Amino acid sequence: MTAVGIDAIEIWTGKLKLDLAETFAPEKGEDPEKYTKGLGLHASSFPDAHEDIVTMGANAAHRLMDRKGLTPDDIGRIDVATESAFDNSKPVSTYIAGCLEQVYDEDFHHANKGERKFACIAGTQSLDDAYNWIKAGRNRGRSALVVATDTALYARGDPGEATQGAGAVAMLISEDPNLVEMSAEQGYGSADETDFLKPNQQFPSVDGKRSMQVYLARMREALEDYESVAGASHPEDFAYVPFHTPFPGMVRKAAVLAYRHMIRGTPIEEELAEEIGFQPREEDFEDREEYEEAIRDYMDELSSTDDYREWYDATIEPTLSISREVGNWYTGSVHIARAAALKQAAEEGRDLAGRKLGVGSYGSGAQAEIHAETVQEGWKDEIEALNIDEQNAARYDLSFDEYENVHDRHNHDKTIEMEDFTVPDGEFVFTGTGRMNERLYDYVE
Ligand code: CAA
Repeated sequence: MTAVGIDAIEIWTGKLKLDLAETFAPEKGEDPEKYTKGLGLHASSFPDAHEDIVTMGANAAHRLMDRKGLTPDDIGRIDVATESAFDNSKPVSTYIAGCLEQVYDEDFHHANKGERKFACIAGTQSLDDAYNWIKAGRNRGRSALVVATDTALYARGDPGEATQGAGAVAMLISEDPNLVEMSAEQGYGSADETDFLKPNQQFPSVDGKRSMQVYLARMREALEDYESVAGASHPEDFAYVPFHTPFPGMVRKAAVLAYRHMIRGTPIEEELAEEIGFQPREEDFEDREEYEEAIRDYMDELSSTDDYREWYDATIEPTLSISREVGNWYTGSVHIARAAALKQAAEEGRDLAGRKLGVGSYGSGAQAEIHAETVQEGWKDEIEALNIDEQNAARYDLSFDEYENVHDRHNHDKTIEMEDFTVPDGEFVFTGTGRMNERLYDYVE
């Protein structure tokens, strides 16, 4: 069977930065550690005046095509995943293809283009679509370009304001990939939920606390479903477990839940029982509330054990390093988590080829999906080509007033003029709107 998966990846961050501890916390009258320790975030990326979901996506895709020596003829499919779209009809992928056609001699007229929507999980769903298209033999030897791009903005004053972010991840899905092969086995946890939604509005309506419970409930369901096809999973199965990361604090909660699930009935649970007892079993409780409280107590104790801490530090913590600096990128978030982990492994000189990743994606509304990936021989070269640290370091550091201006500038209901904070250099830029209210873009040399 031909291996299919991610051949290459490129990341583009919004070019502005809001420092949460230094700039945001003092204005909000909050302890900086609420953000740095509680949520686990240091900064958020924001789009400059000339940036939006199209420019960020096109710039990530251009870097990827350029580095891999591809032309439009090599791409049979362009799927864009976003929850920040500005058009209910014309997909963002057509705009991105239009941008790329400005810099290539060929065009994408024979590529199938679309836009995927299911909150943050749409990026992973687009990978699935590409995987299925190639496995079905409909790709004519061509690869698929998947772009996850978002400006994750919340209304000012919303508790989600601290978790904002903006950026794009472009991924090339191919046969015999260089980075990771995706597993055929998948697990889903999916239910009609009202936790986070944007009913024809730019900024989300969010029930923050509920959204966290829904994330965990759907992720647990997805893990059970995954195990029903792939067999029981064990903490040692995976070199890294990248989760959807709205903020690292959320992943801390998901990780302990996953660990508890994976060790149940194993020698690890037995060994730990001497320290913290066995896991509560539902049949031993008369009502559900008591059981849930016992589970919460067990997880609190579990998260302080050496076994868990070692597993967390090795398997989860490395997935969070990019997210901490850029915030929530919605559809791109789980994909920067994967990249962060592989980047750390490359920096540490680890040999990961053949090792597995367990990837936990999530979208509000709500659906979680779990699949495995096998790291391929060429992974290190691919990951070493990323320049996300340089991009992050080059961001313009906003004052709070500047942040508010940037937020207004990107508010679809406001018309605010704003000077660019950064000078475009070898990138696509937004230049205004046309006669049918379409958005216009140029490539700046
Ligand atoms: N020092 C250290 N920690 C502190 C602290 C301090 N001084 N002050 C607070 N904290 C801790 C809190 O204890 C809390 O941690 P725990 O949950 O582990 O107890 C954490 O910091 C956050 O504090 P609050 O809960 O008080 O924060 P909040 O209520 O202001 O906002 C939020 C939190 C509700 C998640 C909000 O950020 C939000 O609405 N975010 C958007 C929704 C979201 O991201 N949901 C995640 C699941 S849905 C999803 O994943 C899809 C998606 O991308 C949106």
